[in-house]
Amino acid sequence: MVFPKDFLWGGATAAHQFEGNYQGDGKGLCSADCVTRGDGRKNIQRRVTFKMPDGKTGSQVVFPYADLPKGAIVQCLEDEYYPTHEAVDHYHHFKEDIALMAEMGFKCYRMSINWSRIYPLGYGKVNEEGLKFYDELFDECLKYNIEPVVTLFHFETPLQLVNEMGDWIDRRCVTYFVEYCKTVFTRYQNKVKYWMTFNEINNMEILPLYAGGMVRNDDQAKAIGSYHQFLASAKAVKLAHQINPDMKVGMMIAYTACYALTCNPVDELKKMKDDQIRHFYMDVQCRGAYPAYKLKEYERKGIVLPIQEDDLKILKEGTVDYIGFSYYSSSCVSGDPKREITSGNMTTSVINPYLEKSAWGWLIDPMGLRIALNQLQERYQLPLFIVENGLGALDHFEDGAIHDDYRIDYLRKHVQAMKDAIEIDGIDLMGYTPWGCIDLISAGTGEMQKRYGFVYVDNDDLGNGTKKRYKKDSFYWYQKVIQSNGNDLGDKA
Ligand code: BG6
Repeated sequence: MVFPKDFLWGGATAAHQFEGNYQGDGKGLCSADCVTRGDGRKNIQRRVTFKMPDGKTGSQVVFPYADLPKGAIVQCLEDEYYPTHEAVDHYHHFKEDIALMAEMGFKCYRMSINWSRIYPLGYGKVNEEGLKFYDELFDECLKYNIEPVVTLFHFETPLQLVNEMGDWIDRRCVTYFVEYCKTVFTRYQNKVKYWMTFNEINNMEILPLYAGGMVRNDDQAKAIGSYHQFLASAKAVKLAHQINPDMKVGMMIAYTACYALTCNPVDELKKMKDDQIRHFYMDVQCRGAYPAYKLKEYERKGIVLPIQEDDLKILKEGTVDYIGFSYYSSSCVSGDPKREITSGNMTTSVINPYLEKSAWGWLIDPMGLRIALNQLQERYQLPLFIVENGLGALDHFEDGAIHDDYRIDYLRKHVQAMKDAIEIDGIDLMGYTPWGCIDLISAGTGEMQKRYGFVYVDNDDLGNGTKKRYKKDSFYWYQKVIQSNGNDLGDKA
């Protein structure tokens, strides 16, 4: 038996991409509610919409992001379509959805609490209806012995915080976030053991609107936004341990194994720099202090962090219990600016001639997952949790059947890579939650047609469809994988 007997097999979702009911039962608006649909394959970017004080409306692409115009109030506009408003209506299908997860044999389910469901404004009055919803959802999981794994912040910034204070640039967000954590830690401490603070915290680099509801995009603003999130995360870790020492709090990062395109030292140096950009977020959250390379960079750029008394102690004392990370593909860098580029998870990469790409241009690299696991363990010696992985693909639906052998192939190879990492390299891996286990809205492109799930949802890019759920071939494949605790990966393993 390669996988530990308590290995957390499961799947992952995020509230804004899955739940719908965006204003129901007292929920406030969040930043993700104001982001339109895009189209990844046509290169149409998602946009955040706003109104100006003079009543004029406008929008701004979220990637690559630029500062919002001064005075812009982020809000939904009448003539725009926002795919997350209804999403796939998990809010009203959660019992059915969790029953499907149980049928696959899930040991855990990673999901996010939408902060604006609990605190509609981000602070102030708690919304009991929101708390009740997650109570029922967790109870449903526990009924099937599915361990909830909760992300506290998955690109869901209460809109009030964005418009009132520009979000994480303002230190009050730290206080409000910790207050929100206190509420949910206290309420769910007997139902939820595993938590994660900020989903893909490193997205602050390129997607500051997602990562921190930021209205500014300059380096100084992003450095301060990250600083505040680090503080908030460290405080949350400490608080969780005080409330219930059994609770484990992890960080979450978008990780890729990064390769230099050639052995030219220029490429290798580029790779080193690229690694630093990612590792920075882990260095602070796992080691509890800012690394020298980042401090030097801030010095060069004239960036000053708003450090207050005790802050550095808080960072030191609030290091995380485990590393959660998403892995979809590896990336490749080159010192030659003329190299052809392809897209990836919220990022881009030089095309790696040895790898195939998904329909959305993401490089497919199972071996890179094994490399990533080794890199992370060597550097941090913390338990690892793959909390997102999967293939976004176009599924063909015919007479209730979806034959997604391409997805099975992708997942099988990645599970095999995990197996090798555990068996050969001695990696301490806690679990695996493939992304979008039931089809949901894509975060990057806002499409529905980019599907990851084991379960198909009848819903199109404009929200048309019955929202009925259908099992794909991969559903049965994953069921067997879990049943055999990763021993049976199907024929082609
Ligand atoms: C991660 C996010 O970036 O990748 C998810 O945590 C997202 O929210 C996932 O959905 C897959 O990306 P995409 O753009 O295909 O939805």
